[in-house]
Amino acid sequence: MGALRGSGIVSEPPSTASLLEAVRPLQRDFVYSPGDFERITRLIYRRAGIALAASKRDMVYNRLSRRLRALKLGRFDLYLDQLEADPRHPEWQHFVNALTTNTTSFFREGHHFPVLAELVRARAATHAPAIWCAAASTGEEPYSIAMTVAEALGSQASRARIFASDLDTEVLEIAAAGVYPNERVERMDPQRLQRHFFRGRGTQAGNVRVKPELQRMIEFAQVNLLDTHLPVKGPFDAIFCRNVLIYFDRATQAQVVKRFAPLLRPNGLLFIGHSESLFHVSDVFRLQGQTVYSLVNEG
Ligand SMILES: C[S@@+](CC[C@H](N)C(=O)[O-])C[C@H]1O[C@@H](n2cnc3c(N)ncnc32)[C@H](O)[C@@H]1O
Repeated sequence: MGALRGSGIVSEPPSTASLLEAVRPLQRDFVYSPGDFERITRLIYRRAGIALAASKRDMVYNRLSRRLRALKLGRFDLYLDQLEADPRHPEWQHFVNALTTNTTSFFREGHHFPVLAELVRARAATHAPAIWCAAASTGEEPYSIAMTVAEALGSQASRARIFASDLDTEVLEIAAAGVYPNERVERMDPQRLQRHFFRGRGTQAGNVRVKPELQRMIEFAQVNLLDTHLPVKGPFDAIFCRNVLIYFDRATQAQVVKRFAPLLRPNGLLFIGHSESLFHVSDVFRLQGQTVYSLVNEG
């Protein structure tokens, strides 16, 4: 489906699972009709821009059934009635948190980090570099950015500003805590690990904790990229918006990306995910390197 895959709401053939379900209904704890799924796709699209394909029907059931259990509701339609009756209902945040996909890792798509190191080294000569990580998930990405800045700038690194945001409040709590199971860092260079993390002991055995000097470089906050007035203070030398555009349809991608332009400093860089592209999405940005973009109206 064009430059970006996996974001179509319509035009997917029914999955084998849903064909089977038509003749042999699944045994489920909660009443969940095709109409309920359609309502969910509409609500999450309006709230978060996430375009759920028809193939996600069972995934959505699994993720939201926890909420129905917590609220002691037996039917999806009653749950959705609650949400639709009140756009400020506190359940909205749980609904959004349940439907976001938060896959991430330290130094994911590693080719971006040397580019960032070079950028901040060049910028530090004139000003304190600022970076926005716009879909920070559980924190591995903003901490990878902070480690890169720390290693590139040494004692000057504490001047840098890293703003890390996400829509999902649960992942932001994990990110701010900065504690990860050992498996999350097992592929990290041992010297880097020793420099930026403490090994947990006692009740924290099996975990690592990000060192406070790295944590202090980052400010975490909730931001919905759909917001027409982003509560974000630029300008930034770099914006990381990786592996989130893929969940949006092309119109939403175009709106989101357009709002980045005024937040970038001259010659600033926009980093996107490996399976994402701005081809046919934005004519304001041009490709500068592997999934790295700069503004068109610059040299
Ligand atoms: C797959 S993760 C990508 C994490 C990280 N950027 C990376 O590349 O490893 C996508 C993240 O986008 C967030 N997200 C989804 N919709 C969003 C929105 N409308 N505004 C802000 N963040 C959103 C999700 O909560 C999730 O944490």
